[in-house]
Amino acid sequence: MLKGKHILVGVSGGIAAYKAAALVRTLVKDGAEVRVIMTPVAKHFITSLTMATVSKHPVLTEFYNPENGDWNNHVSLGLWADAYVVAPATANTLAKMAHGIADNLLLTTYLSMRCPVIAAPAMDMDMWKHPATQSNLQTLQKHGVHIIEPPAGELASGLEGKGRMEEPEKIAAFIERLFVKKKSLAGKTVLVTAGPTYEAIDPVRFIGNHSSGKMGYALAGSLANRGAQVLLISGPTSLPVPRGVELVRVTAAAEMYAAVIERFAGTDAAILCAAVADYTPEKKSTHKIKRGKESLSITLKPTADIAAALGKQKQKNQLTVGFALETDNELANAQKKLQAKNLDLIVLNSLNDEGAGFGSDTNKITIIKKDGTVVTCPVLPKQEVAEIIIDTVVDVMSEKV
Ligand code: PMT
Repeated sequence: MLKGKHILVGVSGGIAAYKAAALVRTLVKDGAEVRVIMTPVAKHFITSLTMATVSKHPVLTEFYNPENGDWNNHVSLGLWADAYVVAPATANTLAKMAHGIADNLLLTTYLSMRCPVIAAPAMDMDMWKHPATQSNLQTLQKHGVHIIEPPAGELASGLEGKGRMEEPEKIAAFIERLFVKKKSLAGKTVLVTAGPTYEAIDPVRFIGNHSSGKMGYALAGSLANRGAQVLLISGPTSLPVPRGVELVRVTAAAEMYAAVIERFAGTDAAILCAAVADYTPEKKSTHKIKRGKESLSITLKPTADIAAALGKQKQKNQLTVGFALETDNELANAQKKLQAKNLDLIVLNSLNDEGAGFGSDTNKITIIKKDGTVVTCPVLPKQEVAEIIIDTVVDVMSEKV
C-alpha cells in the first residue's frame, strides 16, 4: 500500500516514543522508505540505534554532524517526504509547531514541509485537556495538520483518561488512507465558494453575515491535498490561503456571481459553501449616511442565485454541491433547495446544533443526495467534515462517468 512512498517520522520526547519503533516497522513492512528525526529529549526514551535499525537508515537529530560538518538539510527533507508523521507529538512539540518555533531539526523540518503532516499526540490527560494544548491543536488543524486524537485508556502516570498515543497500526492505516484519497482527484478542477459577502449601504457600512470562511477553506485545502486543481472564490476573510489553491477575492454577492459564472465552464465540480447575501441594497449611497432623528429605511432587492444559475447551465459531466444553513424545518428546506437549484447534493447544517455552522472550528452536517440518500454525521472538526463531503463528491463523480 505504501510502496515507494517517502515517510518521515518525527519522534519527540515522551514515554510513548517506544511505540515509534513499532510504527516505523509497520511503515517499512508496508513498503515505505522511512527516515527518522528524533528530538534530543526523545533519545532519553528510545535509542537512535533502535530507530536506525528499524528504519534501515541513520537517525537525524542535529542540524549538522560536529565531526565532519555534514549538514542535515531540513529543506531537502521537506522536499523528499510524501508524508511527515510526528509520533509521539508531545504537548511541548505541538506548542512549538503551532507557533512556528524552530529550535530543533524536527521543528525546522516541519516548517519546510510541503506534504501532508500528521501528528499523533501523547501526553497526560490533564495536559491534553489544558486550554493551551487545545488551542494549539486548533491552530495546527487550521494550518492543515491532521491530528490523530489520542484514545482514552491507562496512562504512564497511572491515571485513566485521554492522552495515550494511538496504536502504530492505526497511525499507519491513517497514512495509507491519506494516499488513497490524495490520488482520487488528480486531473479534476473544482471551484469552491467560501466566506460571507458584504453588501454596501454606503462607503462605510454593509450588510454581511457571520461566515468565517473556515468550512470553505477546509474544503479547498483538502481538495488540493487530493490532487485537484482548486479555484477558491472567497468573500472577505482573514484566513490563510491553503497551499496549492488559486484564490479569487470578491466582496459582494454580484461580484461572487460574476467570478463563478466566468470560471464554471472549465470545472468538473462546484462546491458552493459561501454564505451569499440573498438581498442587497437597491441603492448604495455615495456618501456616508448621516445620523438623524427619523428612522431610516433601506430598500433591498434580491441578489442573483449563483447555485441556481449553475444548476441551469451545468453539463452532464459537471456536478454542483450546495450548502443549506437552516434554523427550522431543516431537512425539508434543504431538500427543497436541492431540487430548486438542481444540485447533485446538498450539505445541511443547522444553527440549532451545538458546534455547527458559523465561525466554529467544528460542524455537524447531514448530506442529502439527489437520489434521496441522507447521511448524518456527528460534530467533527471542519477539516474532517471536508473529507467526508469530498468522499461523497468523489463517489457521485464516479457514478456520473
Ligand atoms: O464560513 P464558516 O464560518 O465556516 O461557516 C460555514 C457555513 C455555515 C457558512 C457553511 O457551512 C454554510 O452553510 N454555507 C451556506 C450558507 C448559506 O448561504 O446557506 P443558504 O441556505 O442561504 O444557501 C443555500 C445555497 O445557495 C448555498 O450553497 C449558497 O452558497 C447558495 N446561494 C445562496 C444565495 C445566493 N445568492 N447564491 C447562492 O449560490
